[in-house]
Amino acid sequence: MSEKVYDVSAEWAKRAFIDQAKYREMYARSTSDPKGFWGEQAKRLDWIEPFTKVDNASFAPGNISIKWFEDGVLNVAWNCIDRHLDKRGDQTAIIWEGDDPSQSKHITYRELHDEVCKMANVLRTRNVSKGDRVTIYLPMIPEAAYAMLACARIGAIHSVVFAGFSPDSLAQRITDCKSKIVITADEGLRGGKKVPLKANVDAAIAKASGVDWVVVVKHTGAAVDMNPTRDFWYQDAAEMVTTECPCEPMSAEDPLFILYTSGSTGQPKGVLHTSGGYLVFASMTHQYVFDYHDGDIYWCTADVGWVTGHSYILYGPLANGATTLMFEGVPNYPDNSRFWNVIDKHKVNIFYTAPTAIRALMQSGDAPVKKTSRKSLRLLGSVGEPINPEAWEWYYRVIGDERCPIVDTWWQTETGGILITPLPGATKLKPGSATQPFFGVVPEIVDADGKVLEGETSGNLCIARSWPGQMRTVYGDHARFEQTYFSTYKGKYFTGDGCRRDADGYYWITGRVDDVINVSGHRMGTAEVESSLVAHDAVSEAAVVGYPHDIKGQGIYAYVTLMTGTEPSDALRKELVAWVRKDIGPIASPDLIQFAPGLPKTRSGKIMRRILRKIAEDEPGSLGDTSTLADPAVVDDLVQHRQNKK
Ligand code: WT7
Repeated sequence: MSEKVYDVSAEWAKRAFIDQAKYREMYARSTSDPKGFWGEQAKRLDWIEPFTKVDNASFAPGNISIKWFEDGVLNVAWNCIDRHLDKRGDQTAIIWEGDDPSQSKHITYRELHDEVCKMANVLRTRNVSKGDRVTIYLPMIPEAAYAMLACARIGAIHSVVFAGFSPDSLAQRITDCKSKIVITADEGLRGGKKVPLKANVDAAIAKASGVDWVVVVKHTGAAVDMNPTRDFWYQDAAEMVTTECPCEPMSAEDPLFILYTSGSTGQPKGVLHTSGGYLVFASMTHQYVFDYHDGDIYWCTADVGWVTGHSYILYGPLANGATTLMFEGVPNYPDNSRFWNVIDKHKVNIFYTAPTAIRALMQSGDAPVKKTSRKSLRLLGSVGEPINPEAWEWYYRVIGDERCPIVDTWWQTETGGILITPLPGATKLKPGSATQPFFGVVPEIVDADGKVLEGETSGNLCIARSWPGQMRTVYGDHARFEQTYFSTYKGKYFTGDGCRRDADGYYWITGRVDDVINVSGHRMGTAEVESSLVAHDAVSEAAVVGYPHDIKGQGIYAYVTLMTGTEPSDALRKELVAWVRKDIGPIASPDLIQFAPGLPKTRSGKIMRRILRKIAEDEPGSLGDTSTLADPAVVDDLVQHRQNKK
């Protein structure tokens, strides 16, 4: 592992909100006096009714309860829009850059206000009110932002479903939170290719009951089927309403959104975030981690379908009155210079992306980068998966011209915002390390028995106490919340990640230690892919693991046992890949399928994934003890027929 250290430049230490001394002082205060610290931080928001209580959180078994600023009243949309209007009405809130490089527009805070009010009023005309769930299945167009903020404005709970998910995945998410309304578009557009969103919604609703209304944003103009009693065009409805809509006063602990994420077992869970603590944390991390100053142009390349898009395209930046760029397209369309051209076109100062994009672009060499200027860039960020030191160095040297610090930000859908990260004016950087905890965050590394390990060590990463952005529950299933995050190590939040702490107290995330895999920064439960595979007629059993993949970080490796009498073939392999793709979505497509006559099981019938992982990782020498298997001979066959990376 690389141990190269990059010092904080004098220039950064001077310009940044937080230098090294300030980090130490504020971190110490945040842990010794959390009430005082967070009580002050929460003043960054406008409160309709001030809170008197700061934190009220318990990680105690049987009583998991997390509340922040619980008697305060506020509105998230007000904080992201209205309160900026006096000073920044004419400032650009959102720069939208289309998939087609000739398409872009600037939306001011005043325009954002009017558009959000229209969307909110359209929802109101369909009787959407406080506490109702609204499913949003939109591409990266401004209406996605309007829809999310419109929900926040009227107190509805949004559930954004990534537009790359299949109709079945969408149906599951609509059903779980019982949405009566879905907001979608005719089609999405990515890399010049069309995505049939409205048709997907129709297919989903055929399987999910209870949807009364489908709002359709006209985007590509494609002809789509409209059900006259259920579907209506957004643009037509928006003409009938005004640009004024009052903000619903919300308790700090009223839900803001649900976001489904994969876990190690079962169906995706609805991670629930609430209003006050979430926004305090998103706003504060956005300001300090990206050192956001007035006038900066900030670009996070995530999709609003993921938590990164929620916290760091929308809520954090807008709460801070920032100019945030929203990009509809992909890094390699029309060519591999797209990101860097967009940076030059809009004079982007702060750029936040995922290691998988860096690795993919790195493959086409320096030339597509070097023909662009990028001189507006000041800070780079990374998120979603561990960044390997080679990709870090390339990002630093070639993209940032050795001028821009890189903030490698570790966090999760569940954490709401960044927990472990450098601060650009305070933290020396080590390529590949997420470095140090953010204010108020107390990481602990524990061994398999839950013993807290001190000093230089490695083990499982837990967080010892609550922070304001923490998820509050699994929607509709509080027992699952406790079971998933608080039962492995009593009294602590367990992240599911492995982690090393070095002699300088720096944290190095080593990846998931549960049955979750991270494919191109997207989270996938191996159990979900397995249940999709076994739903195919030809498949009797399946076991899925991750394996190292040069671009994606982890690839999906599936071991498949066929029904008796079914012959393995390349055609069947292709069919199974297409099957999973259609069932869950392209991000779940297996990269490699190995037909396995048998799977390694214990005598009680449990599949030994550890062994399957080692085989997929091509480390047959470290399989460990296989003598407890019901049939140790299956392992030899698996090792012999291991599938190779392409
Ligand atoms: C998992 C969470 C954070 C928003 C996007 C992903 C991995 C995330 C890093 C990082 C190493 C990282 C972890 C985590 N992860 N950021 N900087 N370094 N690993 O959110 O889909 O909830 O996934 O992503 O394994 O547990 P998510």
